Amino acid sequence: MYKILADQDLAPGLRLFRVYAPHIAQRAKPGQFVIVRMDEQGERIPLTIADQDVQEGSVSIIVQGVGKTTRQLGALHAGDSIATFTGPLGRPTEIEHWGVVVCMGGGFGVAPVFQVARAMKKVGNHVVTIMGARNVQLLFWEDRLGSVSDELYITTDDGTKGKKGFVTDVLKDFIDGERKIDLVFAVGPVPMMRAVARTTEPYGIRTVVSLNPIMVDGTGLCGACRVSIGGQTKFACVDGPDFDAHQVDWSLLMNRLSQYLPEERVSLERYEQEYRCQMEKAKSEIRL
Ligand SMILES: Cc1cc2nc3c(=O)[nH]c(=O)nc-3n(C[C@H](O)[C@H](O)[C@H](O)COP(=O)(O)OP(=O)(O)OC[C@H]3O[C@@H](n4cnc5c(N)ncnc54)[C@H](O)[C@@H]3O)c2cc1C
Ligand code: FES
Repeated sequence: MYKILADQDLAPGLRLFRVYAPHIAQRAKPGQFVIVRMDEQGERIPLTIADQDVQEGSVSIIVQGVGKTTRQLGALHAGDSIATFTGPLGRPTEIEHWGVVVCMGGGFGVAPVFQVARAMKKVGNHVVTIMGARNVQLLFWEDRLGSVSDELYITTDDGTKGKKGFVTDVLKDFIDGERKIDLVFAVGPVPMMRAVARTTEPYGIRTVVSLNPIMVDGTGLCGACRVSIGGQTKFACVDGPDFDAHQVDWSLLMNRLSQYLPEERVSLERYEQEYRCQMEKAKSEIRL
Protein backbone atom coordinates (compact mmCIF):
# COMPACT_ATOMS: atom_id res chain seq x y z
CA MET A 1 0.00 0.00 0.00
CA TYR A 2 1.20 3.53 -0.79
CA LYS A 3 0.36 6.08 1.86
CA ILE A 4 -0.86 9.58 1.01
CA LEU A 5 1.26 12.04 2.99
CA ALA A 6 -0.61 15.20 2.00
CA ASP A 7 -3.52 16.36 -0.12
CA GLN A 8 -4.35 19.79 -1.49
CA ASP A 9 -7.13 21.36 -3.54
CA LEU A 10 -5.55 23.23 -6.44
CA ALA A 11 -8.67 24.28 -8.33
CA PRO A 12 -12.26 22.99 -8.66
CA GLY A 13 -11.94 19.29 -9.58
CA LEU A 14 -8.13 19.35 -9.42
CA ARG A 15 -6.31 17.83 -6.44
CA LEU A 16 -2.66 17.25 -5.58
CA PHE A 17 -1.45 14.27 -3.56
CA ARG A 18 2.00 13.58 -2.15
CA VAL A 19 2.38 9.80 -2.05
CA TYR A 20 5.10 7.91 -0.17
CA ALA A 21 6.98 5.96 -2.86
CA PRO A 22 10.74 6.40 -2.23
CA HIS A 23 11.87 4.01 -4.99
CA ILE A 24 9.97 6.07 -7.59
CA ALA A 25 10.99 9.45 -6.11
CA GLN A 26 14.64 8.46 -6.50
CA ARG A 27 14.44 7.38 -10.14
CA ALA A 28 11.76 9.56 -11.77
CA LYS A 29 12.73 11.92 -14.58
CA PRO A 30 10.69 14.75 -16.18
CA GLY A 31 8.02 13.46 -18.53
CA GLN A 32 7.53 10.10 -16.81
CA PHE A 33 4.34 8.80 -15.23
CA VAL A 34 2.95 6.24 -12.79
CA ILE A 35 0.07 3.79 -13.17
CA VAL A 36 -2.19 3.89 -10.16
CA ARG A 37 -4.82 1.49 -8.85
CA MET A 38 -7.03 2.65 -6.00
CA ASP A 39 -7.76 -0.85 -4.67
CA GLU A 40 -7.35 -4.47 -5.73
CA GLN A 41 -10.48 -4.31 -7.93
CA GLY A 42 -9.78 -0.84 -9.28
CA GLU A 43 -8.90 0.08 -12.88
CA ARG A 44 -5.37 1.17 -13.67
CA ILE A 45 -4.97 4.82 -14.65
CA PRO A 46 -1.85 6.69 -15.76
CA LEU A 47 -0.91 9.94 -14.00
CA THR A 48 2.09 12.16 -14.64
CA ILE A 49 4.74 12.56 -11.96
CA ALA A 50 4.22 16.24 -11.16
CA ASP A 51 7.12 16.51 -8.71
CA GLN A 52 9.27 14.38 -6.45
CA ASP A 53 10.99 14.84 -3.11
CA VAL A 54 13.84 12.37 -2.68
CA GLN A 55 14.41 13.28 0.96
CA GLU A 56 10.78 12.78 1.94
CA GLY A 57 10.53 9.80 -0.43
CA SER A 58 7.40 11.26 -2.00
CA VAL A 59 5.97 11.63 -5.48
CA SER A 60 3.38 14.31 -6.28
CA ILE A 61 0.48 13.58 -8.59
CA ILE A 62 -2.26 15.94 -9.75
CA VAL A 63 -5.65 14.44 -10.45
CA GLN A 64 -8.39 16.00 -12.53
CA GLY A 65 -11.75 14.38 -11.78
CA VAL A 66 -13.18 13.48 -15.18
CA GLY A 67 -14.63 10.00 -14.62
CA LYS A 68 -15.14 7.28 -12.02
CA THR A 69 -11.56 6.51 -11.02
CA THR A 70 -10.22 10.06 -11.04
CA ARG A 71 -13.19 11.24 -8.93
CA GLN A 72 -12.79 8.32 -6.53
CA LEU A 73 -9.09 9.13 -6.21
CA GLY A 74 -9.88 12.82 -5.76
CA ALA A 75 -12.00 11.97 -2.71
CA LEU A 76 -8.98 10.56 -0.80
CA HIS A 77 -7.11 12.41 1.95
CA ALA A 78 -3.79 12.37 3.78
CA GLY A 79 -3.56 9.13 5.78
CA ASP A 80 -5.45 7.08 3.14
CA SER A 81 -3.58 4.58 0.99
CA ILE A 82 -3.46 3.64 -2.68
CA ALA A 83 -3.21 -0.10 -3.50
CA THR A 84 -0.70 0.02 -6.36
CA PHE A 85 1.54 2.79 -7.62
CA THR A 86 3.79 1.59 -10.44
CA GLY A 87 6.59 3.56 -12.03
CA PRO A 88 8.43 5.49 -13.15
CA LEU A 89 7.09 4.56 -16.61
CA GLY A 90 7.62 5.97 -20.09
CA ARG A 91 10.62 7.60 -21.72
CA PRO A 92 11.77 10.78 -20.03
CA THR A 93 11.46 14.04 -21.99
CA GLU A 94 14.65 14.85 -23.96
CA ILE A 95 16.28 17.57 -21.91
CA GLU A 96 18.97 19.32 -23.93
CA HIS A 97 20.31 22.77 -24.53
CA TRP A 98 18.02 23.72 -27.41
CA GLY A 99 18.16 27.54 -26.96
CA VAL A 100 14.73 29.14 -26.62
CA VAL A 101 12.19 26.61 -25.36
CA VAL A 102 8.49 27.46 -25.21
CA CYS A 103 6.69 25.25 -22.65
CA MET A 104 2.90 25.20 -22.95
CA GLY A 105 0.48 23.70 -20.43
CA GLY A 106 -3.28 23.46 -20.24
CA GLY A 107 -5.43 21.86 -17.50
CA PHE A 108 -3.52 19.16 -15.57
CA GLY A 109 -0.83 19.54 -18.27
CA VAL A 110 0.60 22.38 -16.20
CA ALA A 111 2.09 19.70 -13.89
CA PRO A 112 4.29 17.89 -16.44
CA VAL A 113 5.18 21.26 -17.94
CA PHE A 114 6.56 22.39 -14.57
CA GLN A 115 8.97 19.42 -14.35
CA VAL A 116 10.12 19.90 -17.95
CA ALA A 117 10.46 23.71 -17.71
CA ARG A 118 12.57 23.33 -14.55
CA ALA A 119 14.85 20.76 -16.20
CA MET A 120 15.14 22.82 -19.42
CA LYS A 121 16.11 25.90 -17.40
CA LYS A 122 18.70 23.91 -15.42
CA VAL A 123 20.63 23.03 -18.59
CA GLY A 124 20.70 26.68 -19.71
CA ASN A 125 17.72 27.14 -22.04
CA HIS A 126 15.80 30.42 -22.16
CA VAL A 127 12.43 29.11 -20.95
CA VAL A 128 9.21 30.82 -22.01
CA THR A 129 6.13 29.30 -20.38
CA ILE A 130 2.58 29.79 -21.58
CA MET A 131 -0.10 28.37 -19.29
CA GLY A 132 -3.81 28.42 -19.97
CA ALA A 133 -7.14 27.54 -18.37
CA ARG A 134 -10.82 28.15 -18.98
CA ASN A 135 -10.94 30.74 -16.19
CA VAL A 136 -8.90 32.18 -13.32
CA GLN A 137 -10.32 29.65 -10.78
CA LEU A 138 -8.79 26.79 -12.76
CA LEU A 139 -5.26 28.22 -12.84
CA PHE A 140 -2.72 26.70 -10.49
CA TRP A 141 1.07 26.71 -9.90
CA GLU A 142 1.52 30.12 -11.48
CA ASP A 143 4.20 30.88 -8.84
CA ARG A 144 5.98 27.55 -9.35
CA LEU A 145 6.02 27.91 -13.13
CA GLY A 146 7.14 31.54 -12.78
CA SER A 147 10.07 30.45 -10.61
CA VAL A 148 11.48 28.14 -13.33
CA SER A 149 10.71 30.33 -16.36
CA ASP A 150 12.46 33.36 -17.85
CA GLU A 151 9.09 34.58 -19.11
CA LEU A 152 5.60 33.51 -18.07
CA TYR A 153 2.39 34.21 -19.99
CA ILE A 154 -1.14 33.35 -18.89
CA THR A 155 -4.27 32.97 -20.96
CA THR A 156 -7.86 32.31 -19.90
CA ASP A 157 -10.70 31.51 -22.29
CA ASP A 158 -12.94 34.10 -20.58
CA GLY A 159 -10.26 36.75 -19.95
CA THR A 160 -10.53 36.57 -16.13
CA LYS A 161 -6.71 36.54 -15.95
CA GLY A 162 -3.92 37.22 -18.44
CA LYS A 163 -4.68 37.40 -22.13
CA LYS A 164 -8.23 36.46 -23.18
CA GLY A 165 -8.06 33.47 -25.50
CA PHE A 166 -5.98 30.33 -25.95
CA VAL A 167 -2.34 29.50 -25.30
CA THR A 168 -1.89 29.22 -29.06
CA ASP A 169 -2.82 32.94 -29.45
CA VAL A 170 0.31 33.90 -27.48
CA LEU A 171 2.39 31.41 -29.49
CA LYS A 172 1.06 32.87 -32.75
CA ASP A 173 1.97 36.38 -31.54
CA PHE A 174 5.55 35.18 -30.98
CA ILE A 175 5.70 33.61 -34.43
CA ASP A 176 4.22 36.72 -36.09
CA GLY A 177 6.72 38.85 -34.15
CA GLU A 178 9.49 36.62 -35.57
CA ARG A 179 10.75 35.61 -32.13
CA LYS A 180 13.41 32.91 -32.16
CA ILE A 181 11.89 29.59 -31.01
CA ASP A 182 14.01 26.42 -31.02
CA LEU A 183 11.56 24.01 -29.40
CA VAL A 184 7.94 23.96 -28.31
CA PHE A 185 6.87 21.44 -25.66
CA ALA A 186 3.12 21.13 -25.01
CA VAL A 187 0.94 19.08 -22.64
CA GLY A 188 -2.79 19.40 -22.13
CA PRO A 189 -6.12 18.37 -23.60
CA VAL A 190 -5.80 16.76 -27.04
CA PRO A 191 -7.53 19.66 -28.92
CA MET A 192 -5.00 22.06 -27.35
CA MET A 193 -1.98 19.92 -28.33
CA ARG A 194 -3.37 19.51 -31.85
CA ALA A 195 -3.83 23.31 -32.11
CA VAL A 196 -0.21 23.84 -31.01
CA ALA A 197 0.96 21.35 -33.67
CA ARG A 198 -1.07 23.14 -36.36
CA THR A 199 0.33 26.53 -35.31
CA THR A 200 4.00 25.54 -35.50
CA GLU A 201 3.94 23.09 -38.42
CA PRO A 202 3.89 25.67 -41.27
CA TYR A 203 7.00 27.30 -39.76
CA GLY A 204 8.90 24.04 -39.22
CA ILE A 205 9.32 24.71 -35.48
CA ARG A 206 10.32 21.51 -33.67
CA THR A 207 7.33 20.62 -31.44
CA VAL A 208 7.00 17.84 -28.88
CA VAL A 209 3.72 16.80 -27.23
CA SER A 210 3.09 14.41 -24.34
CA LEU A 211 0.23 12.17 -25.44
CA ASN A 212 -2.43 10.78 -23.10
CA PRO A 213 -4.14 7.80 -24.76
CA ILE A 214 -6.02 5.24 -22.67
CA MET A 215 -3.51 2.88 -21.03
CA VAL A 216 -3.86 -0.46 -19.24
CA ASP A 217 -0.63 -2.34 -18.48
CA GLY A 218 1.97 0.35 -19.22
CA THR A 219 4.42 -2.29 -20.48
CA GLY A 220 3.87 -2.24 -24.25
CA LEU A 221 2.05 -5.59 -24.20
CA CYS A 222 -1.71 -4.85 -24.22
CA GLY A 223 -1.78 -2.37 -27.12
CA ALA A 224 -4.37 -0.10 -25.44
CA CYS A 225 -2.22 3.00 -25.85
CA ARG A 226 -1.61 2.48 -29.59
CA VAL A 227 -0.97 5.74 -31.47
CA SER A 228 0.05 6.41 -35.05
CA ILE A 229 3.17 8.54 -35.49
CA GLY A 230 4.30 9.34 -39.02
CA GLY A 231 2.27 6.35 -40.23
CA GLN A 232 3.95 3.96 -37.81
CA THR A 233 2.23 2.29 -34.85
CA LYS A 234 3.77 3.19 -31.51
CA PHE A 235 2.81 2.43 -27.92
CA ALA A 236 2.70 5.62 -25.89
CA CYS A 237 3.59 3.82 -22.64
CA VAL A 238 6.97 2.55 -23.82
CA ASP A 239 7.78 4.58 -26.98
CA GLY A 240 6.40 7.83 -25.47
CA PRO A 241 4.47 9.56 -24.04
CA ASP A 242 6.47 12.31 -25.87
CA PHE A 243 6.20 12.40 -29.67
CA ASP A 244 6.87 14.76 -32.57
CA ALA A 245 3.61 16.77 -32.72
CA HIS A 246 3.74 17.11 -36.51
CA GLN A 247 3.74 13.32 -36.98
CA VAL A 248 0.77 12.48 -34.70
CA ASP A 249 -2.44 11.11 -36.24
CA TRP A 250 -4.74 13.33 -34.14
CA SER A 251 -8.06 11.94 -35.47
CA LEU A 252 -7.06 8.39 -34.50
CA LEU A 253 -6.05 9.55 -31.02
CA MET A 254 -9.37 11.37 -30.53
CA ASN A 255 -11.39 8.40 -31.80
CA ARG A 256 -9.58 5.98 -29.52
CA LEU A 257 -10.06 8.27 -26.49
CA SER A 258 -13.82 8.28 -27.00
CA GLN A 259 -13.99 4.51 -27.68
CA TYR A 260 -15.41 3.59 -24.27
CA LEU A 261 -17.61 6.64 -23.65
CA PRO A 262 -20.88 4.69 -23.00
CA GLU A 263 -19.14 2.33 -20.52
CA GLU A 264 -17.35 5.26 -18.84
CA ARG A 265 -20.69 7.07 -18.43
CA VAL A 266 -22.38 4.02 -16.84
CA SER A 267 -19.43 3.49 -14.49
CA LEU A 268 -19.50 7.14 -13.34
CA GLU A 269 -23.27 7.09 -12.82
CA ARG A 270 -22.96 3.93 -10.69
CA TYR A 271 -20.15 5.45 -8.65
CA GLU A 272 -22.08 8.68 -8.04
CA GLN A 273 -25.16 6.73 -6.98
CA GLU A 274 -23.11 4.59 -4.54
CA TYR A 275 -21.38 7.71 -3.24
CA ARG A 276 -24.73 9.45 -2.64
CA CYS A 277 -26.05 6.35 -0.80
CA GLN A 278 -22.95 6.26 1.42
CA MET A 279 -23.35 9.96 2.24
CA GLU A 280 -27.05 9.46 3.10
CA LYS A 281 -26.14 6.46 5.32
CA ALA A 282 -23.41 8.44 7.09
CA LYS A 283 -25.83 11.38 7.66
CA SER A 284 -28.52 9.12 9.15
CA GLU A 285 -25.93 7.45 11.44
CA ILE A 286 -24.84 10.89 12.71
CA ARG A 287 -28.50 11.78 13.43
CA LEU A 288 -29.09 8.55 15.43
C1 LIG B 1 0.77 9.37 -19.72
C2 LIG B 1 -0.50 9.95 -19.14
C3 LIG B 1 -0.41 10.87 -18.12
C4 LIG B 1 -1.57 11.38 -17.56
N1 LIG B 1 -1.43 12.27 -16.54
C5 LIG B 1 -2.53 12.73 -15.91
C6 LIG B 1 -2.40 13.59 -14.78
O1 LIG B 1 -1.31 13.94 -14.35
N2 LIG B 1 -3.55 14.01 -14.18
C7 LIG B 1 -4.78 13.64 -14.64
O2 LIG B 1 -5.77 14.06 -14.03
N3 LIG B 1 -4.93 12.85 -15.71
C8 LIG B 1 -3.84 12.37 -16.35
N4 LIG B 1 -3.98 11.52 -17.42
C9 LIG B 1 -5.34 11.18 -17.86
C10 LIG B 1 -5.95 10.15 -16.92
O3 LIG B 1 -5.24 8.94 -17.00
C11 LIG B 1 -7.43 9.93 -17.30
O4 LIG B 1 -8.15 11.10 -17.07
C12 LIG B 1 -8.05 8.80 -16.49
O5 LIG B 1 -7.53 7.58 -16.93
C13 LIG B 1 -9.55 8.81 -16.63
O6 LIG B 1 -10.07 7.76 -15.83
P1 LIG B 1 -11.55 7.86 -15.22
O7 LIG B 1 -11.99 6.50 -14.84
O8 LIG B 1 -11.60 8.90 -14.15
O9 LIG B 1 -12.39 8.42 -16.39
P2 LIG B 1 -13.05 7.60 -17.59
O10 LIG B 1 -14.42 7.21 -17.17
O11 LIG B 1 -12.12 6.53 -18.06
O12 LIG B 1 -13.14 8.73 -18.66
C14 LIG B 1 -13.93 9.92 -18.43
C15 LIG B 1 -13.67 10.92 -19.51
O13 LIG B 1 -12.28 11.28 -19.59
C16 LIG B 1 -11.75 10.98 -20.87
N5 LIG B 1 -10.45 10.29 -20.71
C17 LIG B 1 -10.24 9.01 -20.36
N6 LIG B 1 -8.94 8.72 -20.37
C18 LIG B 1 -8.32 9.84 -20.75
C19 LIG B 1 -6.97 10.19 -20.97
N7 LIG B 1 -5.98 9.28 -20.84
N8 LIG B 1 -6.69 11.46 -21.32
C20 LIG B 1 -7.65 12.36 -21.49
N9 LIG B 1 -8.96 12.09 -21.31
C21 LIG B 1 -9.28 10.86 -20.96
C22 LIG B 1 -12.72 10.00 -21.50
O14 LIG B 1 -12.70 10.14 -22.90
C23 LIG B 1 -14.03 10.42 -20.89
O15 LIG B 1 -14.60 11.49 -21.59
C24 LIG B 1 -2.85 11.00 -18.04
C25 LIG B 1 -2.93 10.08 -19.09
C26 LIG B 1 -1.76 9.56 -19.63
C27 LIG B 1 -1.84 8.55 -20.72
S1 FES C 1 -0.70 0.51 -22.02
FE1 FES C 1 -0.59 -1.49 -22.76
S2 FES C 1 0.70 -1.27 -24.47
FE2 FES C 1 0.74 0.67 -23.58
